Amino acid sequence: MAFLLFSFLIRVISVNLWLNFLFSMAESSFIHLGGLRDVESFRRHLAKYQINIPCDEKLVAGNLSPLAQPLDKAGVHLGNRFAIQPMEGWDATSEGRPTELTFRRWGRFGASGAKFIWGGEAVAVRHDGRANPNQLVINQHSRLDLSRLRETLIAEHRRVTGSVTDLIVGLQLTHSGRYSRPNTHDRPEPLILYHHPILHRRLGIPKDYPVLTDDSIREIIEDFQRAAVVAREAGFDFIDIKHCHGYLGHEFLSAHTRDGEYGGSFENRTRFLRDVVNGVRAVAPGLSIGVRLSAFDTIPFTSSASQATADRGGAGAPEPFNKLLPYRWGFGLNAANPLELDLGEPLRFLSLLCDLGVNLVNISGGSPYYNPHVQRPAFYPPSDGYLSPEDPLVGVARQMQVTRTLKQQFPQLIIVGSAYSYLQEFLPHVAQAAVREGWTDCIGLGRMVLTYPSLPVDVIEGRALKRNSICRTFSDCTTAPRAGLPSGCYPLDPHYKQSENAARLKTLKTGKLKHKLTSTKS
Ligand SMILES: Cc1cc2nc3c(=O)[nH]c(=O)nc-3n(C[C@H](O)[C@H](O)[C@H](O)COP(=O)(O)O)c2cc1C
Repeated sequence: MAFLLFSFLIRVISVNLWLNFLFSMAESSFIHLGGLRDVESFRRHLAKYQINIPCDEKLVAGNLSPLAQPLDKAGVHLGNRFAIQPMEGWDATSEGRPTELTFRRWGRFGASGAKFIWGGEAVAVRHDGRANPNQLVINQHSRLDLSRLRETLIAEHRRVTGSVTDLIVGLQLTHSGRYSRPNTHDRPEPLILYHHPILHRRLGIPKDYPVLTDDSIREIIEDFQRAAVVAREAGFDFIDIKHCHGYLGHEFLSAHTRDGEYGGSFENRTRFLRDVVNGVRAVAPGLSIGVRLSAFDTIPFTSSASQATADRGGAGAPEPFNKLLPYRWGFGLNAANPLELDLGEPLRFLSLLCDLGVNLVNISGGSPYYNPHVQRPAFYPPSDGYLSPEDPLVGVARQMQVTRTLKQQFPQLIIVGSAYSYLQEFLPHVAQAAVREGWTDCIGLGRMVLTYPSLPVDVIEGRALKRNSICRTFSDCTTAPRAGLPSGCYPLDPHYKQSENAARLKTLKTGKLKHKLTSTKS
């Protein structure tokens, strides 16, 4: 027993050393992947900069492709290894009902041919937990809408693939907590679990701002239960209790400094999860449950141009934290040096999921608000971001490596990996190798599906990629909503490219750039 524990700890420590090495590779050379001639050049680049991403030289098409293999596990039957990640469009009505744009997006998710639809998009369990005034809301009034969204997706899937028996469709349930903006896109109305020394300053939250009481948390738990009942009635196969990206579920995991039943010890910080899971089991028996998790984190980053001491011209840098050690406001990071990962608690969290009978796990990392280069590696930053402080491939490798570690320790779980879109032309080669070598069960696609929804079927059927449709990580899908516009691929999807909003976005971006240039000069 002692030996088993010892070998487990050694494994965790060695993985962490490797992950910390990845974190330290902040200055490796950036290349435009679109400029690389072939997969061999890509593999050489990875080798040269010691970026540990598996990559197959040749793609296998058809039934023999690792990506086309069905997955039968834990009572789930999936027809292939592609998953579609949840992605909001900021395009619901003020009552939280889907619009034409929402239906279009869900239809395209279905037409992708991916057999695992992880959640569609984050749907708020109550109005005050919406991340924006155009987020979907789930309640008895929206049951029909949600069921129509699901049916649209399924119909498109059937049209393209001919079969829906091996398709699983879930719904992501969320409360946005610290990032709630339910009424207007430019007025934050944060609901917080604890005071955060860095984020409070960034979000302008005063020191005496009230934290959510334990009673109000219990009300939110009941909202999750009610939402689960509606999701089941609307026909969804599972719900995702969102625990990622800085929203409420994720914030519980780092509530070390909170008093009471929901803060402090690991047991208390995971009470929300346990209460929601047990509550859902009671009111919606038979409904499967999944969790999307930010399995690691780092200090909030900011543009170095805005830091008095830094001189790297707008590249992201961690906020100063010397006076905040040990760092008690994170999950999956080393409190003694919060730039380093520590997967000890994330491993415990997955063990808890197993105990709770939660078999579907989607691994992500960080947050789009305070460390976007970690969460969604990109060549071009969003308007509220900063230039990537590392080769975005390092960010992809980090997410893949964490997912691999967790997968190795919990082979019984169905694991979806994230952050593959930056791989562009080489996404299929990496995806095939990752599944073949057991780094992950499923390849989750986010931004790539906004620009190129048919990528999964094209890959499985052995068709050449449509290069003009490949996501180049311009980040307009993040910038647009920051300015109150619907999200979508403005550079490449003709529907958005030719819309009036595209012109508005362009004007906003030009204004912002001018402002940045003048303020950096002065
Ligand atoms: C426009 C946009 C909306 C997103 N909305 C959600 C969401 O509702 N829920 C969620 O868990 N992640 C959301 N994400 C994160 C993605 O699911 C995914 O983790 C991220 O984009 C990295 O994967 P990728 O490299 O394939 O894009 C969103 C990302 C983008 C770009």
